Amino acid sequence: MKIGILGSGDVAKTLAGGFLKHGHQVMVGSRTPEKLAGWAAQNPVASTGSFDAAAAYGELIVLAVKGKVAAQALRLAGAGNLLGKTVIDATNPIEDAAPVNGVLRYFTTFDESLMEDLQRRFEGAHFVKAFNSVGAASMVNPQFKDGKPTMFICGNDEPAKKVVSGILDQFGWETADMGKVEASRAIEPLCMLWCIPGFTRNQWTHAFKLLTQ
Ligand SMILES: NC(=O)c1ccc[n+]([C@@H]2O[C@H](COP(=O)([O-])OP(=O)(O)OC[C@H]3O[C@@H](n4cnc5c(N)ncnc54)[C@H](OP(=O)(O)O)[C@@H]3O)[C@@H](O)[C@H]2O)c1
Repeated sequence: MKIGILGSGDVAKTLAGGFLKHGHQVMVGSRTPEKLAGWAAQNPVASTGSFDAAAAYGELIVLAVKGKVAAQALRLAGAGNLLGKTVIDATNPIEDAAPVNGVLRYFTTFDESLMEDLQRRFEGAHFVKAFNSVGAASMVNPQFKDGKPTMFICGNDEPAKKVVSGILDQFGWETADMGKVEASRAIEPLCMLWCIPGFTRNQWTHAFKLLTQ
């Protein structure tokens, strides 16, 4: 598949590497694509460009920008370039404020998550929350002694979630589908929980697992 990645940070580059590893074609987008020159030199089969170019290129889009500017980045990508496409939303609504005893602050509420806001603003896109509840270093085929970790996902479009489940399978995850877009009210805060051992004990190498009978 052709993947258009919006973002130039750790998540964007890590997921881009994962898609390349699994045989997909990738374009990574940034407001200043020149900052990706080093990464592009190490990954000559991938291309880089503007948000708009990456969104136009991708059959599937990955949103991997700072949560506060997610809507802005999607506007730059162009609503028309997102129409009918699956958008993997890896963002978290992290406030520009220090954590309190290791607990991040969010700018969203329990009744309105970031992905609901984005889905409303860009109604032609099929957002699927994924990859937001684990550190970038463990996103692609992580090895844990207790087996495959679980990625919690949600979104309104069933075919889009099927596509994302297939990708998660390639990336070494089992998928737990939590339902429609409102479930991101619960999935986005998993990042807060995931970060607590990091901020308080400098432990950043864990992932969630859903146990069932
Ligand atoms: N880091 C992790 O381990 C991790 C794990 C799970 C989820 N997440 C979430 O994934 C997202 C990406 O995280 P990250 O650490 O890779 O990067 P980040 O530092 O949170 O975001 C960097 C990206 O934000 C974009 N950006 C910043 N200001 C912008 C603006 N005004 N308009 C448009 N775009 C703007 C930058 O675009 P330019 O390229 O144009 O500068 C860059 O691509 C975040 O929402 C984060 O919460 C992170």
